[in-house]
Amino acid sequence: MSAIILAIESSCDETSASVISDGKVLNNIIATQSIHQKYGGVVPELASRAHQQNITKVVQEALQEANIQKSCLKAVAFTRGPGLSGPLLVGVSFAKAFALGLNLPLIEVNHMEAHVLAHFIDDPKPSFPFLCLTVSGGHTQIVLVEDYLKMKVLGETQDDAVGEAFDKAAKLLDLPYPGGHLIDKYASSGNPSAFKFPKTEMPGLKFSFSGIKTALLYFLRDNSLKDPDFVKNNFNDICASYQDALIMMLLSKLKKAAKETGISQIAIAGGVSANSYLRKKLEEFSLQHKWKVFIPAFEYCTDNAGMIAIAAHFKYLEGQFVGQDVTPDPRLRI
Ligand code: KG4
Ligand code: ZN
Repeated sequence: MSAIILAIESSCDETSASVISDGKVLNNIIATQSIHQKYGGVVPELASRAHQQNITKVVQEALQEANIQKSCLKAVAFTRGPGLSGPLLVGVSFAKAFALGLNLPLIEVNHMEAHVLAHFIDDPKPSFPFLCLTVSGGHTQIVLVEDYLKMKVLGETQDDAVGEAFDKAAKLLDLPYPGGHLIDKYASSGNPSAFKFPKTEMPGLKFSFSGIKTALLYFLRDNSLKDPDFVKNNFNDICASYQDALIMMLLSKLKKAAKETGISQIAIAGGVSANSYLRKKLEEFSLQHKWKVFIPAFEYCTDNAGMIAIAAHFKYLEGQFVGQDVTPDPRLRI
């Protein structure tokens, strides 16, 4: 069953639209909201307003760029959750109105499943089963992927997400929001063994990142009291050491999951999968443990509608549609 589907993503602070045709993502238009930078984090109400301003333009651009007439569409897909209520509501309402006007069926997509399914946009693609470490600003999960639409969370964070641990550290270091990629950048010229940060040990495949964030706060405060230039003079080493602790916490659980399940196909997904140190260490682990690793293109790591489109494609093939009574679910889980 071939199909052209329009997909919309609006769960946080990126307004994005994508057109997919027969499983091939034709484009991935993203409007990033810079308004949040001056507040040091996403302000939900401002995000909702920015989505309202951007969504029509982004959808029009996606259709025009793909040279697709609205009459050629077979379905409209949207992120139902998890995410921020207001931003989700903008995307869901737009998708519903658009589908109603054109008499098209709707496909709801789970944002976290979509991050995993981003691996099926380009080659090489993993085969089933595989493990996916999904790491973003709101989530840190190890997912067992048994089929396109059959996934199970094996372990996840009990408090902060690893992306939050990056962003909060960036804030403590006076870097703009979101600062994850900046920590990555400064860390690349630093020594990851210069300082030791405590790695929280959690049972099983659970994660916790709130302790290390507080440890960094006290570390910066105590050392700055002794030497006011401490942070300035050790900036890259602090970034590299903190990043090393975060990434090793992720990889030690991934190693445990691979051992427990006997699965050696390992994927990473979500915004933090753009981290260069995680990518480098994962390659090292893959040689050591004979893993076959899958790392998505940068474009499909952070929030984007391309991943919603590919997820929608698989749901379309299964005939999984929803009615006009669908509402956003900010706490939707895999
Ligand atoms: O998946 P995503 O775009 O949005 C959510 O669903 O949360 O992930 C955003 C997160 C932010 O915390 C951001 O700082 C982090 O991904 N991030 C990075 C890098 N690029 C983005 N963290 C570390 N290193 C990076 N290069
Ligand atoms: Zn995301």
